[in-house]
Amino acid sequence: MKNICVIGSGYVGMVTATCFADLGNKIVAVDVDEGKIEKLKQGVMPIYEPGLEELVERNVNAKRLYFTTSYEEGLQDADFVFICVGTPSAVDGEADLKYVRAAAQTIAEKMTKPLIVVNKSTVPVGTGDWTAEIIRNAQPEPIDFAVVSCPEFLREGSAIADFMNPDRNVFGSTNREAAEEVAHLYDPLGAVTVITDIRTSEMIKYASNAFLATRISFINEISIICERLGADVTEVARGMGYDKRIGPHFLNAGAGFGGSCFPKDVKALANMALIHGTHPQLLNAVMEINDFQRKHLGMKIRQLLDDSVDGKVIGMLGLAFKPNTDDIRDSPALTIARTLMNQGAKIRAYDPVAMENVKDELPTIELVENPYAVADGADILVVLTEWNEFKQLDMKRVKKLLNEPILVDGRNIYKPQTMRELGFVYRGVGRGFNGEGVRSD
Ligand code: UDX
Repeated sequence: MKNICVIGSGYVGMVTATCFADLGNKIVAVDVDEGKIEKLKQGVMPIYEPGLEELVERNVNAKRLYFTTSYEEGLQDADFVFICVGTPSAVDGEADLKYVRAAAQTIAEKMTKPLIVVNKSTVPVGTGDWTAEIIRNAQPEPIDFAVVSCPEFLREGSAIADFMNPDRNVFGSTNREAAEEVAHLYDPLGAVTVITDIRTSEMIKYASNAFLATRISFINEISIICERLGADVTEVARGMGYDKRIGPHFLNAGAGFGGSCFPKDVKALANMALIHGTHPQLLNAVMEINDFQRKHLGMKIRQLLDDSVDGKVIGMLGLAFKPNTDDIRDSPALTIARTLMNQGAKIRAYDPVAMENVKDELPTIELVENPYAVADGADILVVLTEWNEFKQLDMKRVKKLLNEPILVDGRNIYKPQTMRELGFVYRGVGRGFNGEGVRSD
């Protein structure tokens, strides 16, 4: 059992705190947002993440997990403090480090005994050294500490499983002993461990996210070519994925990547490269292709509606940036909805969990209770998040409800042939000449 303080109760913080508590440690989770902490004390989660609420409840009841706004309370017994605060994009694409700086400064002011400071927030290469400097300068009197970078690789929607069954854990520090101590916290998971220097560790995180984003943009570019040449990108990806050197993951063509990580991290890495005098051509292309993918879907919708969406009702299934999350940050669905609304379309949408978050972001969007209400009287139906519940809809009923039986499958969840047999005008992403080997558009 170790005493661990976790700063920040967003995705990374909540999952880190709760999973470490579940592994038998005593955790104090600190957040400066009083409202959030108050709600957490009442069992209300700040985020939607499958399985989190039950795990929090179990560990709070077992007195292994506490929530507070007080750094003093958090650091009182702590041997480790995990910084898990947000690093949003600043205007120029550089990561904004104000929350990391504030956390490091307060840790320095409030720590009373030797401490290992672990950085889990995604931070530009070199931030570990900078964090150490901030702490050193802000300490009222010198107390021993070490900074360790431990990047987080969890995915929203499967964050707990990702924490408990990681592909690897990475630790970076100038102090090897400190890195090993942090690595020991993860021993119960039995995962592969990479111990390295702090800058390399920070870079591993950026390079991993950028590589996955590159795979997505790659397959999206291929999807556009497939549409021109009459091939089906889903089959192309399947055929490629069996090659062990390629593998099947992150090759789903669709509306492009969104969320709080890929867009921000690719931009930040490109920015780091630029600042240091190199020209990040591939990273720029990855971002450009991702933007184009959204535009391309918008254009496809307009084309299917006789080149004008003005006054048309567009039914949207899915608003979250991916399934199993209520997160709408940089969601392709929202970009596409905004563009179409600017062109005069009326958007009617349904998402199993993200609708509450959309209300402030897009106040004029009509939100309805279920997929059938979306289809009712709509001129076209568009799938933008591949929630499971959209995969088994009664499509005969959907077709009857629609004004026109036009279906744009922005995540390729349906079989083109089945949809055509049901009488839909079906368009997926990169599915050849409408998936039939004959040009139909
Ligand atoms: C990602 C990384 O996977 C994770 O390791 C890191 O810690 C944070 O960023 P996350 O943003 O939660 O996780 O989602 P992920 O499942 O990776 O998907 C990101 C985006 O890519 C989504 O918008 C998803 O729809 C899109 N995507 C993913 C595709 O378009 N095609 C794919 O094949 C895979």
